[in-house]
Amino acid sequence: MDLITLTGSQSSYSILPFEKSLPLHVHWGAKTQFQSEKKLFPFNNRGYSIQPRIGKSTVSVEELQCEYGFAENGDFRLPAFRVRDGRNYPITGPFELQSRIYSGKKAIPGMPSARQGAEQNLETVELQMHDPKTDLWITLFYTMFPEYDAVCRHVRFTNQGSCPVKLEKAASLSLDLFNWDYELLYLPGAWARERQLLRRPVQNGTTSFGSARGTSSHQFNPAFALVAADTTELSGEAYGFSLIYSGNFLTELELNYDNNLRVNLGIHPDTFEWQLQPGQSFHTPEAVMIYSNEGLNGMSGKFHGFIQHHIFPPNFQNRERPILFNNWEATYFDFDQQDLTELVETAADLGAELFVLDDGWFGERNSDRTSLGDWQVNTSKLPGGLEGLATAIEQRGLQFGLWIEPEMISHHSRLAGGHPDWFLSIPDRPVAEGRNQLVLDLSRQEICNFLVDTLDEILASAPIRYIKWDMNRYLTNVASPQLSAGQQREVYHRYVLGLYQVLEQITEKHPQVLFEGCSGGGGRFDMGILYYMPQYWTSDNTDAVSRIKIQYGTSLFYPPISMGAHVSAVPNHQVGRSTSLEIRGHTAMSGNFGYELDLRSLSESESGQIKEQIAFYKTHRKLLQFGRFIRLQSPFESDDAAWMFIDEDSFLLFWFRLHAEANTPSPRVKLAGLDPDALYVEESTGLSCTGGELMHRGLLLPQPEGDYVSQLLNFLRQ
Ligand code: GLA
Repeated sequence: MDLITLTGSQSSYSILPFEKSLPLHVHWGAKTQFQSEKKLFPFNNRGYSIQPRIGKSTVSVEELQCEYGFAENGDFRLPAFRVRDGRNYPITGPFELQSRIYSGKKAIPGMPSARQGAEQNLETVELQMHDPKTDLWITLFYTMFPEYDAVCRHVRFTNQGSCPVKLEKAASLSLDLFNWDYELLYLPGAWARERQLLRRPVQNGTTSFGSARGTSSHQFNPAFALVAADTTELSGEAYGFSLIYSGNFLTELELNYDNNLRVNLGIHPDTFEWQLQPGQSFHTPEAVMIYSNEGLNGMSGKFHGFIQHHIFPPNFQNRERPILFNNWEATYFDFDQQDLTELVETAADLGAELFVLDDGWFGERNSDRTSLGDWQVNTSKLPGGLEGLATAIEQRGLQFGLWIEPEMISHHSRLAGGHPDWFLSIPDRPVAEGRNQLVLDLSRQEICNFLVDTLDEILASAPIRYIKWDMNRYLTNVASPQLSAGQQREVYHRYVLGLYQVLEQITEKHPQVLFEGCSGGGGRFDMGILYYMPQYWTSDNTDAVSRIKIQYGTSLFYPPISMGAHVSAVPNHQVGRSTSLEIRGHTAMSGNFGYELDLRSLSESESGQIKEQIAFYKTHRKLLQFGRFIRLQSPFESDDAAWMFIDEDSFLLFWFRLHAEANTPSPRVKLAGLDPDALYVEESTGLSCTGGELMHRGLLLPQPEGDYVSQLLNFLRQ
């Protein structure tokens, strides 16, 4: 009974292969060595429990911590997987357990998974659970990325037998923790109100959240954390989880009578089943688990670094991102060549670097009622075609970027006329439209091929340096008549696999093109998409005050460089609020910076201010895109918010006040991550302070007046 341990820089993960049959979870957290394996579990036969035989022993499985718990063996907690044999009987083991350890990491076929990159110190454990009755092999994969204390997990089911088996549930990870009063942090939200940070105690019984909308969704994000009750932004233990998957997912927490906390994360079983024929394998998506004993910021920093170095496409891991101008909120569908030329001129004068033409450039797309699927340029709007526009844009020194929504089809389109059966629907039942559109059936190979060819053609037609890949509705009424009756519950997952196949092929063919994901704003903001598209339109809500919360919540797991953030017009188009250009700039430059408003109607002083913002961003771009991001004050806890970006030589502090109150003390904010003995001097005021002073006594800020104000301070280390 040798323990298997994976070791990170500050953490370790230990597994006990009990009786060469059942993998038990010993530890995940602070780096720990164990002396006495016998004392790790009670191995009792508890009163009134079921005691299956495991090897030579009989034990009450429900009081053990399992690595991948399953049903029908006396473990009554929510199972990590459910599999049935050819006669529809549950497969319950006993399993024969083998393990192997090797350095490096394998990619998961057909799905995004953490990239090994240049990392030489990766160690992988494979635990193979073999069911001799059916010859089903369930292999649990664990890879430790020591620098980030990240453990990547996924599971492969291989049917070596002669009868089909059926997967009804197949979580990517399952973990049984002893519950030291953990609290759950997660990101519930809605369209235009994504990722609102919520923290609450984990209590007895089950808690679950997920998505059955076909995308990872606006409503819940496939990332969450468990933290000790006294964990703060800067101290304490935090256990973060995130799924590299863009479809339906389910997170389950079950706290039982023994204070055992089971955590399952994976594909949502309500909309999933998989027929595994003899000789076939099924891979779950990969999940990433990150441990930190340096508070939430410690955990977030590791996620940010991990995503940048092991999830983003290699070409964009260290590449600075351009300041973009997007015409959507400037013109919506109503534009012609003249409008665009004027916008290009102004954007160039202001210093923008990438001009993005949003929706409305193709087919007869003058509203959202038509033309998705007809990706031919509308020459009455753009007589010179995309090439003509791109050339004009490049002549003004900007790059050209284009919006497209490849996964969709409008009823009113030539594509639908030619292929009336290409969208997902249940035969002989009414279809349900969202934003007047239907979803192409990406479970079909010929449709995926069509998308790759179409995108290829568009990318070949003009010098396009950037694509905004949109996806503007959820999936419902899902069936695919091409698949057999027994496979209909596979469609949701097959859709995601089809999407990944298209993305893989197109990004491989065009590795220099920068892709930005979007789904009605942030409705599919997950690591699966970030694997192909290293930035994401964070929310359709561009209001600075709403964005402070949305970006704060998003930063729990995702780095600022991944969050598209634009300065837009006031009154804001989504919430009707008016805020200063200053706070809009400060909020947007805390993400992946851009502008999205009618630049032609700017006053002279506004143009001047925007020029200054752009120049400031260019000077500090490296720090803002690749520096360490630290949250200091939460807008979910008070009316103030603060965060900073820091590198070796300097830091930028952003401070926001949402609502003013009478007779309040001057704001004071404690900074973090500084060298306590170093001297830091603020650029515009000359204020000089030691790092210790700023971190332990705090920085006193001038008392601002009014609502929605912000301050930006730039400190240089001496
Ligand atoms: C979605 C996106 C917007 C914009 C429109 C275009 O709503 O989130 O940014 O691109 O589609 O129709």
